[in-house]
Amino acid sequence: MSEDVLTYSVLSGSALGDAEWDDVSELFSSSYGFYSQQDPSGRAGRRIRLSPNYYRRAYATDDYQVAFCSDKDVLVAEAVFRVCNTSRGRAAFVVQLVVDEQYRRRGIASTLLHAIWGFSDFCCWGIVTSNAFTVESLEGATFRRVCPLSMKNNEEFVRAEILSGIGFLASAKWTVSAAESVIDSGFYTDRSSPSEATMTLSARLGVLPEGAEWLAIVFREQPLDDFKAYRSLILSSARFVTEAYARMPQREQGWAAKTESEVSAILGWLPELPRTARIADFGAGSGRHVEALRAAGFTDLTAIDFASCAPGVLKEDVRSWRSPEPYDLILCLYDVIGSFPDDADNKAVLASVAANLRPGGYAVLSVSNYGYVAGKGAQKVDLDDPVEATRRIFALPPSRSMETTGEFFNPNYILLDDKHHIACRKEQFSSGTGLPGEYLLCDRRFTSDEIRSWAESCGLAVTESRFVRAGFDAEFDVATGKEILLITKKR
Ligand SMILES: C[S@@+](CC[C@H](N)C(=O)[O-])C[C@H]1O[C@@H](n2cnc3c(N)ncnc32)[C@H](O)[C@@H]1O
Repeated sequence: MSEDVLTYSVLSGSALGDAEWDDVSELFSSSYGFYSQQDPSGRAGRRIRLSPNYYRRAYATDDYQVAFCSDKDVLVAEAVFRVCNTSRGRAAFVVQLVVDEQYRRRGIASTLLHAIWGFSDFCCWGIVTSNAFTVESLEGATFRRVCPLSMKNNEEFVRAEILSGIGFLASAKWTVSAAESVIDSGFYTDRSSPSEATMTLSARLGVLPEGAEWLAIVFREQPLDDFKAYRSLILSSARFVTEAYARMPQREQGWAAKTESEVSAILGWLPELPRTARIADFGAGSGRHVEALRAAGFTDLTAIDFASCAPGVLKEDVRSWRSPEPYDLILCLYDVIGSFPDDADNKAVLASVAANLRPGGYAVLSVSNYGYVAGKGAQKVDLDDPVEATRRIFALPPSRSMETTGEFFNPNYILLDDKHHIACRKEQFSSGTGLPGEYLLCDRRFTSDEIRSWAESCGLAVTESRFVRAGFDAEFDVATGKEILLITKKR
């Protein structure tokens, strides 16, 4: 079994057909577990089953979604969940999680659950479960601790706005106090040999009688609990760059609409190039600039992007990519340099541009202008103060700009570090059938002097530098230009 064949998706309950509900029911019925000796209907020792009809009746509506994990075409894990609008905002509640026995302990459940609970602006996140590891996943995904007292304090809200909308929990008996949160869900699962994790959690959430499960809910107003884990999320934010860019519908976004104008501006600034010139686009995205160059008659074109699935775009990381033959011109446009929080990574992109050029070859670069976003009044953060920075980033509201417009300049969703010129953002993705996701991104924005000196130190002489916007057809200043564009020549 290889991890690579696993695919994840999510569909609304109303979009599932009969065949899919059959699969969902089959996976549950073959994997969930066995009825205990105390099952009141005399099914002790038999497998717990739920029919396709049960699923259709309970979950085939827009109120529910099902997240799937499949190995090729075979369903190996599923999570049924509900995202509802409450008087306090949206809430995500998992009603069922099943992983095929052969696929357990591979991080599948935690991938599904983190996706469902990952939106940091929801008002609460919860689950009904008898599995201690699932409760740990809830704490891991939300960085908050499941605390019966918090649930007790929010009891009325939970009953009226969360449980009331979930068929099998609406009238179930929920016992909640400072020391327990146990609900009679009616699943008489065999728990004859409790794990150590179960016993430890029983001390926090109460011992589970037969036929009951824990009701575990965390609330947005609960403070950051796992400080270290959140801190390490910040420090490792570079790992989200590829996935976030892969999910960005770049070709449809306004900033990418003026390709012909950009290519003709660039060609106008450079000396006349033969149509056979070797040209590469580093961080090419959809490959739009290469397409426009092809339309202009150029023939030797390479587009490279580590996140793109566009036809004709080479899926490589330009930080380390080396061409067997050098290029006459390399484009590296729209914040490829700056995608990462760490200067070493951004410098590696630029160094690779320089290394892949022939002496006398040209590189055209554009990076995000620090002055533009700083002038918009974004809140400041000092990333060298780990305690304060961690708290501030935790509390930052998420944006949907990458999934919608691609304009990541709205100051309400940015924390800006003045010393390192890093912008921290949270970006949410939920369109299509991919798992939902919220990513923390910290990208580098530049002053004109910074990017000029970086270019010079890589052996790229700057022949032209200007503040621009999409189209590159007008000149702006430091406060109004979103991008800084450099024309450089390799020494
Ligand atoms: C804002 S997009 C710009 C895309 C394209 N240059 C354009 O103007 O349409 C930045 C692109 O850089 C790519 N990128 C960032 N770092 C990269 C790397 N190290 N290797 C390859 N591609 C990278 C991202 O995947 C993303 O598609």
